[in-house]
Amino acid sequence: MGRALRRVVYNEQDIARRVRDMGTEITSAYPDGDLLVLGLLKGSFIFLSDLVRQITRPLQVDFLVASSYGDKTFSSGAVRLLYDPETELEGKHILLVEDIVDTGRTLGRLMDLLKARNPRSLEVCALLHKHIATELKHPTRFVGFDAPNEFLVGYGLDHAENFRHIPYIASLQ
Ligand code: IMP
Ligand code: MG
Repeated sequence: MGRALRRVVYNEQDIARRVRDMGTEITSAYPDGDLLVLGLLKGSFIFLSDLVRQITRPLQVDFLVASSYGDKTFSSGAVRLLYDPETELEGKHILLVEDIVDTGRTLGRLMDLLKARNPRSLEVCALLHKHIATELKHPTRFVGFDAPNEFLVGYGLDHAENFRHIPYIASLQ
């Protein structure tokens, strides 16, 4: 099933430690107001479930589904919303949770859509950031790791829908 792995980039312990710190950081960044954590599916599902359990203030969870890479290892730039959150966004702090920011095109498009719904604030939290984006309109407020410019899989990230279940993050052969 799928290609071979080259090396482990972040092991389970690295990830758990970083996610715990991010939870603490996010908790203190939102001292008041309603917080809605919006996970971008499918890639963020494991990160989001670990992250929300490290945030010690009230919050709600919902999801967004946008079209993504398919089985290619590069971004086409085309983004479509396949599932729109049913939760009210107006007046809430929205924290959009992404697995990885690569070109940032997915985010740019989504942020414009979400801003139009008048949230109280709108920020991005990404487990991984490749820092290669040249057209990033919205900075990522919370970043887990500055990722190497390799194609990464595991902990929710896929290649052609494989490897999402691997508990660590690895690069592809
Ligand atoms: P962007 O729009 O180019 O920033 O692409 C972001 C999306 O592409 C992420 O949410 C992932 O689903 C996917 N992606 C980008 N880089 C990788 C990678 O290294 N491994 C797995 N998926 C990736
Ligand atoms: Mg993907």
